[in-house]
Amino acid sequence: MMAAFCSWSSVLVVVVLFFTASIKPGAADESDTKDKKAKGPSPDRIREPLRMFTDEDLAKYDGSVPRLPIYLAVKGVVFDVSSAPEFYGKDAPYNALTGKDSTRAVAKMSLAPEDLTADVTGLTDSQLEDLENVFQNTYKKKYPVVGHMAFTVVSNGRSHTEL
Ligand code: HEM
Repeated sequence: MMAAFCSWSSVLVVVVLFFTASIKPGAADESDTKDKKAKGPSPDRIREPLRMFTDEDLAKYDGSVPRLPIYLAVKGVVFDVSSAPEFYGKDAPYNALTGKDSTRAVAKMSLAPEDLTADVTGLTDSQLEDLENVFQNTYKKKYPVVGHMAFTVVSNGRSHTEL
């Protein structure tokens, strides 16, 4: 009777030890990391140096060449939006915003061809506020910055392309 009890308690001890050992100390951290990934680009990632883009440079990255990343610019800042092909890929709903600075389109929430430009002339205060919100809360949060539009790089009041 005693021997049976001892062997059962040994089995119990082994089972408890097995389960304790199989709880990984890093398990909680792993889900933290996943959350961080979902929130945006990791600060630890190795980045390429920031590039300067002319309109012509940026036009190549419009999702039409599968081996190239997909870029778009807002307020002169160029973002890599390749991680969201469902929005920006070839034939996706917002593909028209890619390969260019689409500041005006984002401010007006418009895909009209005349709005696919960096020109902010005549935008209302509320459109400028919407632009800032999408710039900060969507683009800066979700996508890595890969460079800047040449027209934003000014020297003595003249843009790079005029120098
Ligand atoms: C019928 C009209 C539209 C509907 C129902 C619609 C719906 C949506 C939905 C559901 C999302 C995804 C939100 C998310 O998952 O976080 C989204 C994102 C977005 N929409 Fe629209 N949308 C419309 C029109 C437009 C237009 C005309 C523009 C023009 C610029 C636009 C620009 C955007 C942008 C920039 C995003 C963010 C994409 C990103 O996260 O990178 N939308 N829209």
